[in-house]
Amino acid sequence: MIIAGNRLRQMSAKAKTTRFTTRTLTDTKVPHKALMRYILHYTQPGDLVFDGFCGTGMTGVAAQLCGDAKEIEALGYRLKDDGTVLDEQNSTISMVGERHSILSDLSPIATFIARNYVDFFGLEDFEREALRVVGELEKSLSWLYESSSGEVLSAIWSDVFFVQIVATNSYSGKQR
Ligand SMILES: C[S@@+](CC[C@H](N)C(=O)[O-])C[C@H]1O[C@@H](n2cnc3c(N)ncnc32)[C@H](O)[C@@H]1O
Repeated sequence: MIIAGNRLRQMSAKAKTTRFTTRTLTDTKVPHKALMRYILHYTQPGDLVFDGFCGTGMTGVAAQLCGDAKEIEALGYRLKDDGTVLDEQNSTISMVGERHSILSDLSPIATFIARNYVDFFGLEDFEREALRVVGELEKSLSWLYESSSGEVLSAIWSDVFFVQIVATNSYSGKQR
């Protein structure tokens, strides 16, 4: 297990004392490819990576993509048939294989975004779940769309308002 948040905090602290003195760093999104290099170097497949300052969750994305041969090769590394990862000097640096992650953040919107980045799903899963939700809604709400002449497929809603304007002449001066 590595504490990625600690490393990020150290980087943030250093940056704040040097170049970034007037603005917050909380909007920095770390490229997942940069994090993959650290995770591949310091962990083995199946290890647990914790980021307590996860922001948009790039640590989790990187941990998952350590199981993706194409993503690893895109970093410039080479893969042997047994899953060994070799660097540019042909030295063994890691093994291909997904790492698990625990992500946390003070900000609810950050954890929401992070959750959606790491929660990969297939279109088939999405379709199945969407149809299930539509079915549930039909069961509980379809009565709203029933009328004496059948199912209501569409409706035009129209309102007409009448406003009575009462005009009074309060001028009380003499008229010529
Ligand atoms: C620099 S951002 C992290 C960006 C992230 N590495 C990414 O790639 O999106 C720092 C995060 O730390 C969070 N944070 C700040 N103080 C915190 C605290 N005390 N506990 C947990 N999270 C905190 C902020 O909400 C922010 O999302």
